[in-house]
Amino acid sequence: PRDLPLMRAHLGDGSQWGVHLSYAEQPRPEGLAQALIISEDFISGGSAALILGDNIFFGHGLSALLKRAMHENEGATIFAHRVHDAERYGVVAFDPQGRPTSIEEKPKKPLSNWAVVGLYIYDHQAAKFAKSLKPSRRGELEITDLNMTYLRAGRLKVAQVGRGFAWFDAGTPDSLLDASNYVATIEKRQGLKIASPEEIAYRQGFISNGQLAELIERNHSKSIYGNYLREVLEEEQSAEPVPARDEPLIRLTG
Ligand code: G1P
Repeated sequence: PRDLPLMRAHLGDGSQWGVHLSYAEQPRPEGLAQALIISEDFISGGSAALILGDNIFFGHGLSALLKRAMHENEGATIFAHRVHDAERYGVVAFDPQGRPTSIEEKPKKPLSNWAVVGLYIYDHQAAKFAKSLKPSRRGELEITDLNMTYLRAGRLKVAQVGRGFAWFDAGTPDSLLDASNYVATIEKRQGLKIASPEEIAYRQGFISNGQLAELIERNHSKSIYGNYLREVLEEEQSAEPVPARDEPLIRLTG
């Protein structure tokens, strides 16, 4: 209730980026799985991706990986990333064949180093399963319990994300600083922004170059960010295009 008006004022209806954004409010912090109940009408029998606002993902081919997972999803698909401090997260254990056997929320003695990241893909059963959950000891409908429901029903896929991907849960001051430093390092080195909504909308073809030019003049005319977006526009004419997000890891030319 406190933050939603700010989010809405900041992001609007999405039309500036050629997408449609709508909002729903969680009245009290009663757990991540409640999102699936609150959004039941919005999802209306389809499938959904749930992404936590404090999670940051970066890696080559990430959008292709997600598109494939959305396309192939039956039941639920979750992603596991190797970390050294697994006790901070949901932790998934595997049998010798690599099949998931359990997920535990913030275990004192983690059974593996594979943390469940805050990006989940669910089919139309998510709201129904979420409604059957009981609040945990911290009074929340736990996303881990929802995932366990899918696991018990034999309908959970766990994709182990390779070491080429960076994942940050920026939910503590320390981890927010880690994420900021990482983003600053990559952006400085490449001269490319990580997750500029205007750039993404433009490169995905959601908005035209005329619309991007208008956005720059309206919102970013006198900033470094505006200069960056101008470069994105101009680079269209250049002989050396920026590598697309989904293209092969190494491109051979000549
Ligand atoms: C939540 C989930 C946890 C997951 C983590 C990812 O934890 O409960 O399973 O591993 O997000 O960021 P929370 O941030 O609510 O402590």
